[in-house]
Amino acid sequence: MTYRNDPYDPKQPALLDQTALDDAVAGADKAFAGAGDLDALAALKHQHLGDKAPVSLARREIGSLPPAAKADAGKRVNLARVAIQSAFDARLAALTAEREERVLVQETVDVTLPTGRRPAGAQHPLTKIMERVGDLFVSMGYEVAEGPEVEWEWYNFDALNMHPDHPARSMMDTFFVAAGSDGAGAHREEDSRIVLRTHTSPVQARTMTTRRPPIYIVCPGRAYRTDELDATHTPVFHQVEGLVVDKGITMGHLKGTLDKFVKGMFGEQARTRLRPSYFPFVEPGAEIDLWFPQHRDGPRWVEWGGCGMVNPRVLRACGIDPEEYSGFAFGMGIERALMFRNEAPDMRDMVEGDVRYARAFGWEA
Ligand code: PHE
Repeated sequence: MTYRNDPYDPKQPALLDQTALDDAVAGADKAFAGAGDLDALAALKHQHLGDKAPVSLARREIGSLPPAAKADAGKRVNLARVAIQSAFDARLAALTAEREERVLVQETVDVTLPTGRRPAGAQHPLTKIMERVGDLFVSMGYEVAEGPEVEWEWYNFDALNMHPDHPARSMMDTFFVAAGSDGAGAHREEDSRIVLRTHTSPVQARTMTTRRPPIYIVCPGRAYRTDELDATHTPVFHQVEGLVVDKGITMGHLKGTLDKFVKGMFGEQARTRLRPSYFPFVEPGAEIDLWFPQHRDGPRWVEWGGCGMVNPRVLRACGIDPEEYSGFAFGMGIERALMFRNEAPDMRDMVEGDVRYARAFGWEA
């Protein structure tokens, strides 16, 4: 029995054919040259140099060649591969350079162009003072409360022990708000039962009717009275209201709180003095004077606001038992604080909204 001893496989692997290799190189060259940008080039890399690329498949076919043919085939495949790789590298370099060139041009900044920058604004000094008041009281464990500026007469007056025929009610020059047009004809504003709040005290009533003690709140906000605008009056002004309701609250707590407050606002030398006075919603009530050593006319007491122990009638109107709880309240003007704290003599400057005025107070008044 004889065997054919013929290890030669007459099959000539097609991919190893020189023409096929030349085609692979030419095809890759053409494809790379046609890649318009780096992304397109990256997408072509796999096709021409990846596992399934003609040169890679050709290299795999070398194994099936007779030993004598392997070296030559290997050299040719290698040359083809190197040619494709360098075509790729060259195109990569060219496209990278092109991109850098483009980026330089596109991102050029003409520093001589006029800018659209807006000049820095500034917080209004009244806002700054109110924020400072809020911060001071928050640091003492209070909450900042808010209420509407368009308010029911009940909260603004009645709940605060100022019934419709109470003389104190006419002391406050009130803006009445006409009720919405319901088509029923003209309403008299005075009948609407709605006002622009004349002080921040309605927030006391709102808080006490909605929350149970202990209550520790402070409420900086806007209030309105029908005053003419002049150096010391403005129809729209700001107050800060404070209210504490808890067990065993006394006038001593009020005085201590006010002293702590004014030191935080005006400096360590600041002190308060209480002068007996009348507000329907507190009993006893007092006027708050502030010791003001830096006053430009020499050290003096300046009048700053009102305060007192919450009138039991107010507690009762708001559903709190005055036998169990007591409280204090205070309220003072923010515009006045700005006047003597920052020597701002004219209130009209404060309402004009000129940013140059606000900017002059810097970032922290
Ligand atoms: N609401 C009073 C006013 O505007 C000030 C005040 C507040 C007085 C709280 C006493 C207690 O004049």
